[in-house]
Amino acid sequence: MPSQSHGHVFLVVALCLVALFLLLRIQHNEDSHSAFPFSKQYSRTSRGLSNAIGNDTLGFQKIFVINAPWRTDRKDSISIAASYSGLSLDWVDGVAAENILEKAYPPGNHRTISDGNKGSWRAHMNALRAIIQQNLTTGLILEDDADWDFRLRSQLEDFSVGARMLPNLITQAELHSRSKKPPQLMDDQRLSQFELAKRSSLAISSPSSRNIPKAEPYGRDWNILWLGHCGAELSPLSPNAPNRIAIMNDKTVPEPQYLKPMPLASLDKISSVYPPHTRIIHRTNSTLCSIAYAVTQTGARRLLYEFGIREFNKGYDFALSDYCNGLTRGATQETMPLCITVQPPIFSHHFPERMKSDITGHTAGFVPAVETRYVRWSVRMNLERLVKGEDGVEEQWPDTKMET
Ligand SMILES: *[C@@H]1O[C@H](CO)[C@@H](O)[C@H](O)[C@H]1NC(C)=O
Ligand SMILES: *[C@@H]1O[C@H](CO)[C@@H](O)[C@H](O)[C@H]1NC(C)=O
Ligand SMILES: *[C@@H]1O[C@H](CO)[C@@H](O)[C@H](O)[C@H]1NC(C)=O
Repeated sequence: MPSQSHGHVFLVVALCLVALFLLLRIQHNEDSHSAFPFSKQYSRTSRGLSNAIGNDTLGFQKIFVINAPWRTDRKDSISIAASYSGLSLDWVDGVAAENILEKAYPPGNHRTISDGNKGSWRAHMNALRAIIQQNLTTGLILEDDADWDFRLRSQLEDFSVGARMLPNLITQAELHSRSKKPPQLMDDQRLSQFELAKRSSLAISSPSSRNIPKAEPYGRDWNILWLGHCGAELSPLSPNAPNRIAIMNDKTVPEPQYLKPMPLASLDKISSVYPPHTRIIHRTNSTLCSIAYAVTQTGARRLLYEFGIREFNKGYDFALSDYCNGLTRGATQETMPLCITVQPPIFSHHFPERMKSDITGHTAGFVPAVETRYVRWSVRMNLERLVKGEDGVEEQWPDTKMET
């Protein structure tokens, strides 16, 4: 029956044409939606942020980047990335271990430490010293492989709310834990991990605009804001008086199955005890990698004293983690610093092609993918697109469900 088969062919062709028409229409609509360049949309000026976090230094007084002069590749890369996010950077030279004199080391067994770690330690000390010498109220210190999301400023706006609220919350929680009698624990044991985490957290939703203080957008009742890391434990549960802040429905947080510091690592705890797209701000508890952290003037002085003068006997990031945990020699409850961190982190290591680290340790012995963990709209992953002036953004960790 030839006529019927012709009919089929006709029908198929017609359907194809309709489909093509629809596809073109959709594409056209998408084009007109992104009529102005993506990078502009998320840059400082066009977002019209009037608060301090909108400025060139993200509301800190300065941003320092640690870069070894022989790693010009990294300097180039972070400079381009910063230019698209409207960041103004100050440089702190990385140091080669062979240029540090034996007698310049503080007490402690520095001989057991790798050359990479010695150089990194000295560079971080120099960054802290710059903050002290320039009498800055706050300084953000970045390592030169740090990466971030295009929506960095809105993330920091949310974070700043937490940074201002958390010190008081922690004080209240500590008072509560000292005053409460043990029986309360019996109730706690009956609750699920999920419920315990929920009760330990004060939830805030991710808002579009905030009242952010001009002079000190992050407050100043902390010593360190640990904004970039490669793994962190949560603070202890405190179901009767929350000691964490949860930013709910944060679109910049990847889905739970992506939340791990390395492709082969196990999932971060937050992926199982909090709803998807939650970001948690809390007191530090064993934090790894010093990719990005802010210090106050007081914080900088304390750290330089502790590790530049008093003792140096382990890699700086481990030392910093111990310091924040109150594990430094002679630390007491009273002198314990207040370090605040965030999970997932806001800054993360970018692993470019042919990654080579000058500090052996965290990345030794395996070749990671080209990626930035935790960062969905990574500026570094989009550099090529940005310099070519292309629209749109490469999403690293797309949601599995269709967004509505
Ligand atoms: C950005 O804002 C902070 C906080 O108000 C301020 O200390 C810093 O000087 C500002 N930076 C610039 C480049 O204006
Ligand atoms: C350092 O800054 C503080 C406040 O920001 C100010 O009170 C102090 O006088 C400054 N010190 C010097 C030596 O400029
Ligand atoms: C740190 O995290 C571990 C593991 O989750 C927990 O058992 C411990 O209580 C925490 N300690 C502090 C000081 O936050």
